[in-house]
Amino acid sequence: MASIRLQQLTKKYGAVTVIPAIDLEIADREFVVFVGPSGCGKSTLLRIIAGLEPIDAGELYIGDRCVNHVPPAQRDIAMVFQDYALYPHMSVYDNMAFGLETRNTPRDEIARRVKRAAEQLHIGEYLQRKPKALSGGQRQRVAMGRAMVRNPQVFLFDEPLSNLDAKLRSEVRTEIKALAQQLQTTMVFVTHDQVEAMTMADRIVILKAGLVQQVGTPQQVYNEPANQFVAGFIGSPTMNFFAARRDGDGLELADGTRLPLEATRAARLPQAPLQLGVRPEHLALQAEGGLPARVSVVEPLGSDTLVYFDFQGERRVARVSPEQTPRPGDAVHFGVATARAHLFDAASGAALR
Ligand SMILES: Nc1ncnc2c1ncn2[C@@H]1O[C@H](COP(=O)(O)OP(=O)(O)OP(=O)(O)O)[C@@H](O)[C@H]1O
Ligand SMILES: [Mg+2]
Repeated sequence: MASIRLQQLTKKYGAVTVIPAIDLEIADREFVVFVGPSGCGKSTLLRIIAGLEPIDAGELYIGDRCVNHVPPAQRDIAMVFQDYALYPHMSVYDNMAFGLETRNTPRDEIARRVKRAAEQLHIGEYLQRKPKALSGGQRQRVAMGRAMVRNPQVFLFDEPLSNLDAKLRSEVRTEIKALAQQLQTTMVFVTHDQVEAMTMADRIVILKAGLVQQVGTPQQVYNEPANQFVAGFIGSPTMNFFAARRDGDGLELADGTRLPLEATRAARLPQAPLQLGVRPEHLALQAEGGLPARVSVVEPLGSDTLVYFDFQGERRVARVSPEQTPRPGDAVHFGVATARAHLFDAASGAALR
């Protein structure tokens, strides 16, 4: 059993609180991704779980054991870092074997585990090479292999894909996910890339300034963002936001455009300033009405086309089918699927349902 539980866990650096009393539960064998902008505390949390950072208050449990005072080597955790941290003078084999050797694992057991991990990671033919004779993706796999041979209860990954080019990134991403399904080990994966989070996670933890903004499955955080920050962070291209206010049983935008709302939903809205959030796929070209706009940039992606347009001096984006692609400069109208749109309190950012 390797669930992980953070209870009112607090971390300070000097006078600065970087993690203010966080509560979080990660289930046994769950693949959880921490995502958030630079500096929000992702690496700090991971290093706390690994035992590399002391905590100032609260409790950390791995399984049923409180590990607040358990040193890293006794936590049965393996961590894969962004820079891989391989020993340059050692062969791939020795890099993978090293951790087991220092734990006095028998030689034939080491050989068996290294061989197995190398096969799973498709690096069997490089075992005698030095890291400098490997590509970035291969090095990344060696770093994973070194973690895997230890059969840890928990894997921690800190942005392990960020040094890879785009194509390799998505390949290794798929491999890690397949591996996670195969290994059945609890995994905590840190990234600032929301696509990585969406594609890999069982559940995503979205952080901002050390505070958990939302915890949920990729579908939940995409379809039901708890606040405007999550709504804008998850999804690519990002959600469009429009200043709005309630007008009877509909919405009025800053330019006077009126959009109808379902009556019961409108009735629940406060009179306070609102933000309307619309995903690019929930804007559709139509002959008239809706949002009047002028097309600025058109990006054909093959399967669909991104149409950027200016509305009230700000750039917005719609995802349309490739058959109806307008041209830059065209005056167009976008229908807004308000039933699929999100509404937020403009002051607090909280979602209004
Ligand atoms: N040793 C330290 N001393 C003081 N402040 C620190 C220290 N380590 C991290 N911090 C601060 O703690 C906050 C969280 O840092 P952390 O490295 O966890 O962010 P992150 O989410 O991993 O960011 P990134 O995406 O850039 O890696 C930051 O504001 C950072 O400046
Ligand atoms: Mg970091």
